[in-house]
Amino acid sequence: MITTTSSWKKLVALGKEAPQSTLSELFLGDAQRAARNTLDLNFGSASIVADFSKQNTTPEVIQALLALARDASVSTRRDAMFAGVPINTSEGQPALHVALRAPSTHKIVVDGIDVVKEVQQVRRSMAEFANGVRNGKIVGATGKPFTHIINVGIGGSDLGPALVWDALSCTLKPSLLCSFVSNIDPVEVEKVLENHDAQQTLVVMCSKTFSTSETLSNGRIIQQWLAASVGEAGVAQHCAVVSVDPQRATSAGIAFAHSFNIWPWVGGRYSVSSAVNLANVVAFGSDVFDDFLSGMRLVDEHFIDAPLAKNIPVMMGLISVWNRSILGRETQAVVPYSSALRLFAPYLQQLIMESNGKQVGSDNAVVATQTSPVVWGSIGTNSQHAFMQMLHQGTSVVPVDLIGFAKTSAVHDEAHDLLMANMFAQAQALAFGADSTEPQRAMPGNRASTVLMASELSAQTLGALIALYEHSVFVQGCVWGINSFDQWGVELGKKLAQNISQQIAQGAPSSDQDASTSQLLQWYLKHQ
Ligand code: F6P
Repeated sequence: MITTTSSWKKLVALGKEAPQSTLSELFLGDAQRAARNTLDLNFGSASIVADFSKQNTTPEVIQALLALARDASVSTRRDAMFAGVPINTSEGQPALHVALRAPSTHKIVVDGIDVVKEVQQVRRSMAEFANGVRNGKIVGATGKPFTHIINVGIGGSDLGPALVWDALSCTLKPSLLCSFVSNIDPVEVEKVLENHDAQQTLVVMCSKTFSTSETLSNGRIIQQWLAASVGEAGVAQHCAVVSVDPQRATSAGIAFAHSFNIWPWVGGRYSVSSAVNLANVVAFGSDVFDDFLSGMRLVDEHFIDAPLAKNIPVMMGLISVWNRSILGRETQAVVPYSSALRLFAPYLQQLIMESNGKQVGSDNAVVATQTSPVVWGSIGTNSQHAFMQMLHQGTSVVPVDLIGFAKTSAVHDEAHDLLMANMFAQAQALAFGADSTEPQRAMPGNRASTVLMASELSAQTLGALIALYEHSVFVQGCVWGINSFDQWGVELGKKLAQNISQQIAQGAPSSDQDASTSQLLQWYLKHQ
C-alpha cells in the first residue's frame, strides 16, 4: 500500500509542517522559486507553460512527491498503458485512448490485432464522410445539403464533443452548426428540434454501448421527428452511429446509413480522440481533427519522454495528490480565463471524478487515503463575480487551476489583456493576500493555484490541454492504487431507475420499495 512507503510518510510529515511557511515567505526566501517550479512544453509554433510555484510546496515536498511517483511505479504503469497491457483490471481490458492519436507508423497489438491500423482506417472513413457532407456529395433524403448536426450522447459521448465544438467555434468558422442533446429530459431535445429543419439535419448518435437509456430515448424521439419530415425510409440517410458495435443500434430500433467504430478499450471519458468527435470532424473538417490529435500526441510523447521532475502531467498529478491526500483539500476548482472553455470544468468533472472517485483499489482493498477531489469551476472573469470571494476569504481552502491564452483571435485584444490581467491578479491575490487594519477586509493569502497557459487556443493546444489532464488523472490513479478506467458506481442508479420506471408505468410502487421512495412515487403519480 502506498501509505506504507517512506515517501508517503515523509509527505505526511511535511504536510504537518506546511502551514509554517507561507507562500509569501517561500517566495521571499527563494529568488528562483518561480523559475524552478515552471515547466514548458514547446511544439512548433505553439507552447504551453505550467507555473506550479504558487502551490504550497517546498523543494523537499517536490522531492518527496517525485519519490512517491517512483514508489507508485508511475513510469512502469505508464509504459504498460501505452503498450496495451490490460490495466483496466475489473473489465479485463487495456485503456488505449493513446492509440487513437498514435503515429500511423506505431504498432500496438491487442488480442493479436494491430489497433493503430484499425484506428487509422476509421479516421480515414470519418474524413471521407466529413468531406462528403461538407462538399454536398452526401445529402439528406430530400436531396438538400446538411447545414446542421445534432450530436446525441451523454457523459463522454457528449462532454468531449460539446467542449471541442464550443471551444473551436470561438476561433474557427464551422461549415455546419452543431447542437448537443444529452439529458433524458424531453424538454431538452424538444427545444433543440424546434430550431432545426429535419431535411438539412445530420444526426450523430454516439454511444459506446448503445444501451444508455438517455441516448436511446433521445435517438428515438429524433428519429420520429425526422420521419415526420423526410419519411420513414429517409431517416437512415440522416443518421450516423458511433459505437463499439453499431449493430446494437439496429437492435434498439435505430436506423442509420453511416457508422463508425470505437473499441471496448476506449473509455467513455477518454473518447474525445475517437469517432465520438465525429460531429466536429464534419463541422470543422478532418484537418482540424488531425491538429487536435497532434496536440494530444505531443503531450503523450512528453508524458513518455520527459523526466518525472520536468513532466507537466506528472507534476500536475503529484500536486493534486499533495493537495487532496496530504493537505486534505476536498475540492479542486478549474477556472479558464476563456469563454471558449466554458465547458472545460464539466468535462473535467467526468474525467477526474468518474476516473478517480473510488474507495477500493485495484487490489480490492479499501484505500487508506482520500482519492478524487470534488472538481468544479467556471470561466473567469465571471467566477470573480460569483464564487471567488469564498476562495479568497472562506474557511475552506480550494486549490485552483487557472488557465489562459497569450493570444486571442478576437479583434478587441485590449479586452483580452484585461482578461489575462485578471487571471494573473487572482493568482497573486490568492497566494499573497493583503493585510488590513480591518479584519473583515484582510485577505489571508497562502492559497494554492497553478497557472496553465498556452500560446493561443487552437485545435492543437486544446488537444494538448485535454491530454495533460488525462495523464494527470492517470498519475493520481497510480499513486492511489485505483483503477481509473472503470465506473461501477454509476451502474446501480441505472438499474434502480429502470425498475422504478416500470413501477411508474404500472401506476404504483412495488411492495418492496423503501418507505421514502414509495411515498415519493405515490406523490408523483398523484400529481402528474
Ligand atoms: O456515466 C457512465 C457512462 O458509462 C460514462 O462512462 C459514459 O461516458 C456514459 O455513461 C455514456 O455511455 P455510452 O457512450 O455507452 O452511451
